[in-house]
Parts: sequence; C-alpha cells; structure tokens
Amino acid sequence: MDLLLRAPALSTAEAVDLARRIYGIDATASPLPSERDQNFLLQTRVVDRFVLKIANSAEARALLDAQNCALAHVARRSSLSPRLVPALDGSLLTEVTVGSGARHYVRLLTWIDGEPLATRHPLSPVMLEQLGEKVGELDAALEGFDHPAIHRDFYWDLAGGFALVRDLAPGIQDESLRTLVMRLATAIEARDGERLAHLRRAPAHNDPNDYNVIVAEAIAGILDFGDIVYTYAIADLAISIAYAVLDAPDPVAAATAAVRGYHRLRPVDDDEIGVLFGLVVLRLCMSAAIAAKQQPERPDDPYLAVSQEPIARTLPALAALDRDTVDAALRAARGRTAEETLEARRRVIGPNVSISYQHPLKVVRGWMQHLYDQSGRRYLDAFNNVPHVGHSHPRVVRAAIEQMLVLNTNTRYLHDGLAQFGERLIATLPEPLRVCYFLSSGSEANELALRLARAHTRRRDVIVLDHAYHGNTTTLIDISPHKFNGPGGDGALPWVHVLPQPDTYRGEYKRDDPRAGEKYAEHARHVRSPGAFIAETAPSVGGQIILPDRYLSSVYAIVRGAGGVCIADEVQTAYGRMGTHFYAFEAHGVVPDIVVLGKPIGNGFPLGAVITTREIAASFDNGMEFFSTFGGSTVSCAVGIAVLDVVEQERLQEHARDVGDALLARLRALPDAHPIVGDVRGSGLFIGVELVKNRETLEPATAEANDVKNRLRERGILIGTDGPFDNVLKIRPPMPFTLEDADLLARELDAALS
Ligand SMILES: Cc1ncc(COP(=O)(O)O)c(C=O)c1O
Repeated sequence: MDLLLRAPALSTAEAVDLARRIYGIDATASPLPSERDQNFLLQTRVVDRFVLKIANSAEARALLDAQNCALAHVARRSSLSPRLVPALDGSLLTEVTVGSGARHYVRLLTWIDGEPLATRHPLSPVMLEQLGEKVGELDAALEGFDHPAIHRDFYWDLAGGFALVRDLAPGIQDESLRTLVMRLATAIEARDGERLAHLRRAPAHNDPNDYNVIVAEAIAGILDFGDIVYTYAIADLAISIAYAVLDAPDPVAAATAAVRGYHRLRPVDDDEIGVLFGLVVLRLCMSAAIAAKQQPERPDDPYLAVSQEPIARTLPALAALDRDTVDAALRAARGRTAEETLEARRRVIGPNVSISYQHPLKVVRGWMQHLYDQSGRRYLDAFNNVPHVGHSHPRVVRAAIEQMLVLNTNTRYLHDGLAQFGERLIATLPEPLRVCYFLSSGSEANELALRLARAHTRRRDVIVLDHAYHGNTTTLIDISPHKFNGPGGDGALPWVHVLPQPDTYRGEYKRDDPRAGEKYAEHARHVRSPGAFIAETAPSVGGQIILPDRYLSSVYAIVRGAGGVCIADEVQTAYGRMGTHFYAFEAHGVVPDIVVLGKPIGNGFPLGAVITTREIAASFDNGMEFFSTFGGSTVSCAVGIAVLDVVEQERLQEHARDVGDALLARLRALPDAHPIVGDVRGSGLFIGVELVKNRETLEPATAEANDVKNRLRERGILIGTDGPFDNVLKIRPPMPFTLEDADLLARELDAALS
C-alpha cells in the first residue's frame, strides 16, 4: 500500500514529450484519474485518442507484463478491453526516467469512447443486466489466461478481505460506520468462510467499478487491468455489483439483474451464488477500510474519496437485508436448471409434446448455425431447417422489430408490404403460379391447399404418399399416413389413397432400375377420381427421400389425366435448400398447381404461404370470404421480404449446393468404414444417412440411430432421426452451415459410429 506514496507525478508537458519520443504521436495531453498510477488522455490533431499510462515506480515489471498479456488475451476474444499500442521500437512496455529522476514504465492504449457508468446512476434494470453481461463476457474472455505475477498478495483481493478489514477498519473515523464494517465482515466470515475456502478460482480483472466501465449507447468497454489477480472466479461479478448497488433504490433488484446478465455468459455455480452477496458487502467494507488508510496520505485526491459517501449511506441498507431472501432472489436470477425446466414443463404442458434427446437440451440462445445452452456451451445445429437463413439473423430480426414498432395489422387494410411480399414470392416461381395466400403455419397452408383443390375439382378424394406428414389439423392428420397409421392413429379414411413411398433404397423398385420413377407412379392409376395429389417434393418425415427421376412428372400426368390437381408440399424443401434449385419441384421438371410453403419462409416467425394458378383462385372465390388474422399481417410480410432478401443476397442456394456436395462426399465415404451405414442420400443441405443392421435384409438399425444421435448431441452436434423405422439420420442445418461445419459433422459422425 506504499504504492500511493510513489505514484508518478509527471507534468502534462512531460506526457506530451513522452508521447512524441516513444510513440511518435503528436498530441495534447490531459490528466485522467488513477489510484496509484498516472494516466493521460492523448488527443492527436486527427481524431485519434489514446491513453498514456505511466506506472507507479514501485510496480513490479512482471505485473505490468501480466497486465499486457491479459489485455492481449482478452483482445483476441472480445472487443471490451482497450488494445496496446506499440512504441516506435515495437515494445509494449518502455522504461523512462522523468524529470524528477524517477524511473517509470509507460504504455499506450487505445481510447474507448464514452463516459463512465458512474454518470448513469441510478442504473436502469436494462443497464444493470448489461453490466452483468459485459463483466461475464470479460471473465469468459479471461478464461484460460495465466501469469505467475497474478498469483500475488494484493490488498484489493477479496480472498484476503477479512484480514484486511480486521487490520484497517479500526482506522475508520466515523464510529457507526467503523462498527458496522467490522460487524458485517465478521458475520460474513462466520457464515461464508468455509465455502469461500473451496470456491472456484480464476484470473479476475478485480476492479470493474463504475468508473472503469465505459458506456456510450451501450456498455462499450472495461478499463484498467491494474488490479488483476488470481482469485475467486466470481470476484468481478461481486465487485461490479458492489458499485452498482451504491445508492440503488432496490439493491436486491439491481444485484439480481446483474446476475441474470452475467450468468448467461459465464454460469455461476451453486456455491458461488451462495456467497455472492457476502462478497458484495465485503468489497464495500474493504473499500471503506482501505480509504481510511489512504485518504490521510493523499487528502486532496478526489479519486480516493469518490465512493466513500455512497458506501457509508448504502452499507446500513445492505446490512438490514435478510440474507436468505437475497440469496434466494440471486439464485432465481440464474433461471431454472434444465431439470427444473423439465419438471415445470411436465406439470403444465401436454405429455405428448415431445422433447429431443435422452438428455434434453436447454438452449438459451441461437446465432446462425449454432445454439447455446445455459452453460454457454455451443452446439452445431445440423438439424433445424426453420431458422433457414440462420438463428436470430439480424436482418430478419430488425425487419420484425422495426415493423412491429410502427404497425401490425391484417389484410383488410391496404399496405404495400402484402403486395410486395406477393410480388417477390411470385418472382421466384414459374408460370402459371401467380396468386398468393398468406397464413401462419405450414398446416394452415396445407389446409388451404386442400380447400383450393376441392373448390376447383369439386372432389374430395386425396392421394398421398405413404409415411407422409402434412400438418397437425384434423384433416391433415387424416391425409398423413405417418400419423393415421402410427401410434394413436385410426387408419386411412375411404377418401384417402396411399401410394407407396418412392424409396429406391428400401422400396419395391430400386435405384438400379432406370424405370423406377414411372413404376412407382403407376400406382396412382388405381385411384378413380382424385381431387388432389399431395406430396413433399423430397419426403423428409418419410426418411429424407430423393424422388427418382420421372416420378413426379409421371404421377402429375396420371392425376391430371384423371381430373385431379397436384399440390407440392415444399414446407421443408423450399428456398434453395436442395442446392440445385430454389424449389425442389424444379429439379423434377414439373410445375405444381398449388405450392405450399412454411417453416423457412419466416425464419422462425410463424409464416405459411400458398401459391396457385389464377384458375384455381377463381374457383375458390365462390362468395365465401377468406381471412387469416395473422396471415399476411404487416409484420409477417416485412419478415417474409427480409428472409427472401437474405436468401438472395447471401446466395444461400449456391452455398447449400457447394457445402452440401462437400458434405455428401464426406458422408459417402462412411459406408467403407462402417457396415452399419446402408445408404447416404440427399441434395444440397437436405441429407439422410440410413443405418441398417444388415445390408442384405436392410433390417433397420433403429436403436443404433437413436444412439448415434444422442452421442453426437453429447459431442456438441445436433441432428435428428426419421423415416418409417426411425433409422435415418436426418441432416438439415440452417443454411449458413459452412464447409468447416461439414467437416466437423462428418468427423464427429465417423467417431460416434466407431
Ligand atoms: C412437410 C410438412 N408439411 C407441413 C408441416 C406443418 O407445418 P406446421 O408445423 O408449421 O404447421 C410440416 C411440419 O413439420 C411438414 O414437415
């Protein structure tokens, strides 16, 4: 603590001179506050600004080196900390002798624009949560850093806090504050001492107080690694809360908000949450005790006194709180554990709303092709096709928010968004598909498609493919063999005609039969007066099936010849997923009478669409109004247009083709090493890997497929299983999936299969 007496005392002119000599920077200098070093803001004539840091002459070189290494470590993982600027000779730390004869180390750092968080008191809940988040980001970025010099005895280290308070608190002038500080520290030690001894340790910044946290529009940086020490892993959280609660109208709410933000980036464990509030109070007690020693040494230094009055006002309020209640509130701020979430869900959600994986995954955020769980673990999402352009794609999110802020109404008012979305969609489709209807889901869209077909043909009978799934409404369950022939199903109704799934791996006609497509199609001739034929252009629930050549053209010819219309359920396959074409039907040389879109077109926003011909739309216009409250709403159109923009501008179809080709090539090597891999099929980023116990009998390896899926989940990769025997590994990632992701998936799948 003698450091204070040896703080540098350079003149502004000396700082200007150092900047020029050592860094070649021509700047004016103005002093910035510091406890024991000296800092100057350097402003060049261009807009560049820097911080010149002159270290205390008693500061060990090793510690300055540790600070520099920590800054560099953090800079590689986060933009929260300033960056080091090298001297003209390339060094990051330069020893100088100043006019007084004292020797000091100097460093130059980039300037972070903004003002101290202290100027924003009282902090709003949003700001408090962000503070927690940013401190969590900093600690997460510091993870893995180490340096011998940070394993040190340091008076600001919480781990030595009780001894420090015992030593220095008797010097606190104000009697009631002195008594309170000593009583609080003793009580915290008695209550938490045992747990603190075993607490997780890590490198900590150790001083994210609200003068070191810089805010512009949002929190932009955390400064000053001078107090860095290897200590409790939650030290930074405790310290940031300690300053955030000063004079806070509701300290518990403030602490809770900070914990919520921090926990998202760096999970707080049970022991840590149990001692957190004690550490918050201990930090304030330490500050009061240290000030009692420092202030008489430098009575005119406002920096040393800045927190003392608020501490004296706030400590009594904190002392009056019931610790059990506070701890419970902080614990709750972390959210429920995955197990608690599961229990809560089971209590209130229908039991057949299923959950993936043996160990259900609790995800808290998504970004592009990745999902993140509560602990911050990242998962490569190779399964979800709904976030087509990427989880939380900022362009789509912004479109939704901006439109939501202004207006969200329905199709009964004029608004340009509706027609624009329609025009954009139609531009992606061939003639004569020229009329759009918008809905809120794939199911609603398939329902409408059936109504259109029935209105146009005045017939009820529907032809479907075996194992198909088209949606969750009563009628769609009736036309979904996957449901009506599955558990709980009642079998086919007389007006539903099921054709065999054209599966050239497992079905009647195989890939080596050049006429397999026509032969499968022939089954449609048995239906006498079909109203509609509906099929996914690449059946997904059916097992990631690629239809054989000439299948669709032959079926369409037969159905149309018998007076029916053809519906393409492109809910899973649209918008470039198949790589070769924007819609899967284009690869088959057909044009459906009705196209149904869902999942990807809203990127997670509930959106469905039906596009049909003018003739069919005219038949449907029979006097009965068609209205969907949310379909075609102002916001959904804004989202729909944004998704199309991204698909086109990011060239996601071409991307899916390139990455899909590479992934398929990697996966097609698997059967050589793994007899269990019976078939690898797909197009673009729509891929299936079928597992069999025997390549002759094709006995499905259902349990094994399930096992592989769960092993991959443990390895941080998400896929699914599907098909009539649930033995097909289903790979259908968000479209930003990269070549590196494809490599990782192939490698991990290989390992899981081994
Ligand atoms: C091919 C297909 N059609 C329709 C639907 C129904 O869509 P939604 O769940 O949005 O109602 C689904 C959903 O899984 C689907 O896969």
